[in-house]
Amino acid sequence: MSMNPPSPCPAAAGAPSSVRVVAAILAAGGGTRFGGDKVWALLGGEPVWLSSFRAFQSHPQIDGVGVVVSAKRLEDARSLAPHAAFVISGGADRQASSKAATEAAEADMVLVHDAARPFVSAEVISRVLEGVRRTGGAAPSIAVADTLRSHETLAIIDRSAVVAMQTPQGARRDLLLAAHCGATQIYTDEMALLAAAGQPFELVAGSEEAFKITTPVDLARARMVLGGPETRTGFGYDIHAFSTDPSRPMMLGGIRFDGPGLEGHSDADVLIHAMVDALLGAAGLGDIGQHFPNTDERWRGKPSITFLRHASDELKRFGWRILSLDMAVIAERPKIMARAGEIRACMGEALDIEPSRVSVKATTAEGLGAIGRGEGIAAHAVATIREA
Ligand code: CTP
Ligand code: MG
Repeated sequence: MSMNPPSPCPAAAGAPSSVRVVAAILAAGGGTRFGGDKVWALLGGEPVWLSSFRAFQSHPQIDGVGVVVSAKRLEDARSLAPHAAFVISGGADRQASSKAATEAAEADMVLVHDAARPFVSAEVISRVLEGVRRTGGAAPSIAVADTLRSHETLAIIDRSAVVAMQTPQGARRDLLLAAHCGATQIYTDEMALLAAAGQPFELVAGSEEAFKITTPVDLARARMVLGGPETRTGFGYDIHAFSTDPSRPMMLGGIRFDGPGLEGHSDADVLIHAMVDALLGAAGLGDIGQHFPNTDERWRGKPSITFLRHASDELKRFGWRILSLDMAVIAERPKIMARAGEIRACMGEALDIEPSRVSVKATTAEGLGAIGRGEGIAAHAVATIREA
């Protein structure tokens, strides 16, 4: 469906043979129609924008890929895409983000891509590159399947006369930069900018698969393409010795028990520590030591329930929700099961989930080993999480 290369383009003829191509992933939108930060929603266990990023990074003709995100997610984006050509913050509208990306791209040719189109194929990218080489500007489009009507006059609009635009939209960088600088109004894509600047462009065949995630239904569809929402499991383990300090409280699962407490930097709640590791592990977010280093005075003496809340916030921030938790405590004392309901309620409240999703079990070590001799307590934890 190659369309309207209207005239041979003198600009393309002058382009150097070894052009440097940089793709820019636009991920700074507010997701108004989605009702949230759609490009940070998870797809296959990763933010939507990262799938788009990878599609370009793995393309043999792309020399670098940059990302435009909202200012508050700059650090997150940098940690997820350490090899990005650039990670910058976007503007108030798509055009401002596109302009920032075009300025940041050290390239002869720029491809601007909606992060919200994670299923862009290598074939479409190649077609756009060929189109830009020919004409100076090119973008993919697809036929419109539905019958179209004017909502004002109710007249039929001939759908064979129109196409739906997709991304990546590519152009020689100098042409796109000039178009951005000369723009006197806001357009919804780069080809509209080129057209306003009087520059030619061509349309190449897009693909139905490269649909844009605009509403939650689109995200559900994208997840179905991958076989459904991704579920992950994490495991955690911890062990603490009993303290020789009789004044230390015994905390387990956020609940205070009688008797001397455990030794440790914080309140030594071995059960919560194991669960924090399970949660962080499930989401691939490291471990408790990285998030709460015991060299950091901020955490000294802090109740461990604070760590659990922080882990919950981190999981939410990265688009996960908790499905179920299970724990096993190994201790000769105190007796735990009689208060299991309190632990489930306390940890459930800290994690903003129903206590029915939190399970806690306890066993003794039958007198075996250090735990059996009553020198300390150990805990195992498992967390199952799913894309929110
Ligand atoms: N985008 C951007 N900067 C903006 C606005 C949009 O980088 N100021 C990006 C979006 O993140 C998205 C792409 O441009 O990947 C296409 O925009 P759209 O689908 O309209 O996303 P949003 O603007 O976020 O959504 P909405 O219009 O519903 O608010
Ligand atoms: Mg928008």
